[in-house]
Amino acid sequence: MTNLSARDRIAFALDVHSREEALRWVDTLQSEIGVFKVGLQLFISEGPRLLKDLAERNVACFLDLKIHDIPATVERAVHAAVAHQVRYVTVHAASGPEALRRAASCTLQANTKILAVTVLTSFSDTDLEAIGMMGNANAAAHRLARVSFDCGVRGFVCAPLECASLRQELGPEAHLVTPGIRRLNPGGSADDQKRTETATTAITHGADLLVVGRPIREAPDPLASARSILNEIEVASSRNAS
Ligand code: C5P
Repeated sequence: MTNLSARDRIAFALDVHSREEALRWVDTLQSEIGVFKVGLQLFISEGPRLLKDLAERNVACFLDLKIHDIPATVERAVHAAVAHQVRYVTVHAASGPEALRRAASCTLQANTKILAVTVLTSFSDTDLEAIGMMGNANAAAHRLARVSFDCGVRGFVCAPLECASLRQELGPEAHLVTPGIRRLNPGGSADDQKRTETATTAITHGADLLVVGRPIREAPDPLASARSILNEIEVASSRNAS
């Protein structure tokens, strides 16, 4: 559970191609948003100098490379992320127990938190069945989160509606991070996401950090959209606290 400010509970997904465009988004949104997520597209295009740019602007970096490899490679990659002092780095829980243990031990003395990716919010139950995973998305997310927790990981990426049951299972130490956030827009598009909810619902169910990309990036007024999500977080958290 979190004592972070609302501003540190939104991670804006910098799903753009260039450093210039990414930094324009940081400059536009940093009054409302404290965490910026660098994913595969931007990292492959621009590399680690962008992590320095974010540090110089005093915003936290969420390095979303969804690392999934053999234990030694996972450990070395997490070690490199820790050296860049990112706040969060994602590792697929499906990397397995040894990789998760080695990743977690790299961050023991660091300010970097490992986030274990459970089941992507773009996956439906049918998609999971197609790749041979047992059970539905909710059961698979629980199984992957439990394995990660037992290996010393305390951060988890899950779908909004999985937060309440994961909180119950893993307790207050778990840091629950959820993408798949969409604005209230009946009949509106969820893009490629399948397990989506509003910011209010995610916070009410116990999410600590919301990852938001297109609902802000593609809004007619991105700053207003960020403010409105921030307001949802503040209202829902104070309701949770009372
Ligand atoms: O645009 P949208 O709000 O759907 O962006 C969600 C972001 O969260 C994307 O950058 C995506 O890579 C990331 N993400 C996700 N599902 C996960 C983990 C990360 O959608 N399980």
